[in-house]
Amino acid sequence: MSALIGAAAPDIAAAVAALRAGDLVAFPTETVYGLGADARNPEALRKVYSLKGRPTTHPLILHVGSVDELKYWVADIPPVALKLAGRFWPGPLTLVLPRSSQVSDVLTGGQNTVAIRVPSHPVARALLAAFGGGIAAPSANRYGRVSPTRAVHVREEFFENLLVLEGGDCEVGLESTIVIIVDGTPRLLRPGSISRTEIETVLGQSIEVGAGAGSPRVPGSTAKHYAPQTPLELVGAGTLPTAEATVRARGERVATLACPQGSDPATYGRALYAELRRLDKVGASRILVEAVPESPQWDAVRDRLSRAAAAFL
Ligand code: TXA
Ligand code: MG
Repeated sequence: MSALIGAAAPDIAAAVAALRAGDLVAFPTETVYGLGADARNPEALRKVYSLKGRPTTHPLILHVGSVDELKYWVADIPPVALKLAGRFWPGPLTLVLPRSSQVSDVLTGGQNTVAIRVPSHPVARALLAAFGGGIAAPSANRYGRVSPTRAVHVREEFFENLLVLEGGDCEVGLESTIVIIVDGTPRLLRPGSISRTEIETVLGQSIEVGAGAGSPRVPGSTAKHYAPQTPLELVGAGTLPTAEATVRARGERVATLACPQGSDPATYGRALYAELRRLDKVGASRILVEAVPESPQWDAVRDRLSRAAAAFL
């Protein structure tokens, strides 16, 4: 995304004014669109939870303009975090780190850590620069639903006069990779386009996957998430035609999403949420999704598909 597609200076100014007034603003990032609020305004943060219908124990991700801002929000910046930030920011990586005393409990859901990232999308960067502070933003969708990768998706989710900055189609299309670092030990909490291997290469060490036994509960990792409204079912690679015939024979109307041999995970990931939204509207009673390859490059896509399917088990 090289240009500020549609998000001209007046739109950024209006968005900044809204944030300062404690209102919400939706904006594009390279991963998905976010529903933003002034991170230092607890009342504005509460509006995010209520508009999304999200439990207040599911913390939000804080977006900042540069790595220099970490020291305001983070109590203790581990060297490992600086290594990852230096390599991947601005970009689709979220770091969960010990919070500073300045961070609102509403933002962290009462946890002693804060999730933070520096997005790379030019509109997000322009907004953060003009606002001059942190913007807390979960994905701009109702709780449990598919994240928006286009401005029109956000408009479909929420009330009509919500300010939505235009930023074109998100380049990554899947939510950021999340790495938690407590006591100096990094763990992968959510797979994303930045792979476990890339992180391990930068750190020169292997990292664990999932919240450790001693870690705080990670609410966003609930199995049922990222789901369309139409029941979604995963079927084995190469079995789509037979599965489709079986479901049709039961009198169901079927929509399908194939993963042809040789598909590229980045291209598939970029299009996935828009495809699920489209298939959700074709009047099918079931969406059959062909399983994607088991290889690590597909981890993020496989994670989202299995959570979407889990919503209907
Ligand atoms: O790509 C993204 O990360 C997008 C864009 C808008 O930046 N945001 C996003 O936010 O996906 P959301 O709220 O849909 O997901 C935030 C995730 C949740 O899984 C939440 O549980 C986790 O971050 N999280 C936030 N704070 C945390 C913390 N202190 N400890 C552990 N997990 C945390
Ligand atoms: Mg989300």
